[in-house]
Amino acid sequence: MKFIYLDHAATTPVHPEVVEAMIPYLSEMYGNASSTHAAGRQARTALNAARDRIAAFVGCSPSELVFTGSGTESDNMALFGAAEAYRSRGKHIITTSIEHHAVLHACERLEQLGYEVTYLPVDRFGQVSLADVEEAIRPDTILISVMYGNNETGTLQPVEAIGRLAREQGICFHVDAVQALAHIPMDLSRLPVDLMSFSAHKLNGPKGIGALYISKTTKISPLLYGGSQERKRRAGTENTAGIVGFAKAVEIMRKNRYELKQKMEKLRQGMVKELERRLDADAFVINGHPTEVLPHILNVSFPGISTETMLMNLDLAGVAAASGSACTSGSLEVSHVLKAMKLPEAVTASAIRFSFGADNTEQQIAEVAGILETIVSRLRTIR
Ligand SMILES: Cc1ncc(COP(=O)(O)O)c(C=O)c1O
Repeated sequence: MKFIYLDHAATTPVHPEVVEAMIPYLSEMYGNASSTHAAGRQARTALNAARDRIAAFVGCSPSELVFTGSGTESDNMALFGAAEAYRSRGKHIITTSIEHHAVLHACERLEQLGYEVTYLPVDRFGQVSLADVEEAIRPDTILISVMYGNNETGTLQPVEAIGRLAREQGICFHVDAVQALAHIPMDLSRLPVDLMSFSAHKLNGPKGIGALYISKTTKISPLLYGGSQERKRRAGTENTAGIVGFAKAVEIMRKNRYELKQKMEKLRQGMVKELERRLDADAFVINGHPTEVLPHILNVSFPGISTETMLMNLDLAGVAAASGSACTSGSLEVSHVLKAMKLPEAVTASAIRFSFGADNTEQQIAEVAGILETIVSRLRTIR
């Protein structure tokens, strides 16, 4: 049976060139980057080169990047780190109701620790309004955290406008760009953002390596205490192989950026067209913003067919898709993102996330649409 992977928002396959770049640092080049001998210096050189490359890719200075163990850790570091560093100014944080759990659950913990968090609503497309952000700002607001692009619907947020507002008010602004990094060109020298989270495994890099951009003027208290790695901002021996792999993934992405964007748009539009051609208009609904959207994510509901049933049928046909964020798939819980968008229950209970990657083809998209047509007609007849 063929296997078609349409779950790149959960994770992407590691590019063979990334594996090749990492292998030496998992074998003969095993030095600890903090050691002063030749083996240590070799690791340090690789680490510095990787940091320079990733910093250039996002338009910041290498000293403004801290390597972490994941996108989740980057989000946690931004939230807990800024909350503690700015505690003397106030204890109010603003975020949105559609953030990844790495932000939402960190905020819930901050509430237990005595912080106050405002969770902003979104419209039916999953977008937060600038006016709501403005209205939520208080004299004791110390941090605003809004994601770049949503991992379930792909909807983009007005981060630039929110960032300008945060700058005017002197409030620290964090952006979770874990899903956006591969698909939206970032220029942090221009964007009014103080903290930004990244993760390598969403762009054909390895798992277990992330980064947090911390602008020169932003204060952050560390989460981890120990050695003085990462300029004392994140203790722990650096994951040299992971960092080298992250940089290689970024290099490949930089070279292929234009082609990838074109391809993602083509695959996404192709899938929509195929669904329109094969299914009745009332058999599916597309969730998320019609235009302000990450090009690799397409969230579709098939009203009357539960998410679990559809995912199981797709899996049996060799298609890997998801119900939303990887952390909630497998559970029967309705997505907090679709709930926040106030979509009808028939839509939230039947949503499927398809997410495309560099390795997908138009042929695969047509095949998946054909499989969906068969599943929908079979299950609709049963009902
Ligand atoms: C928007 C967003 N933020 C954070 C994360 C967490 O990243 P990681 O899997 O590297 O911990 C994810 C992962 O799916 C994500 O999509």
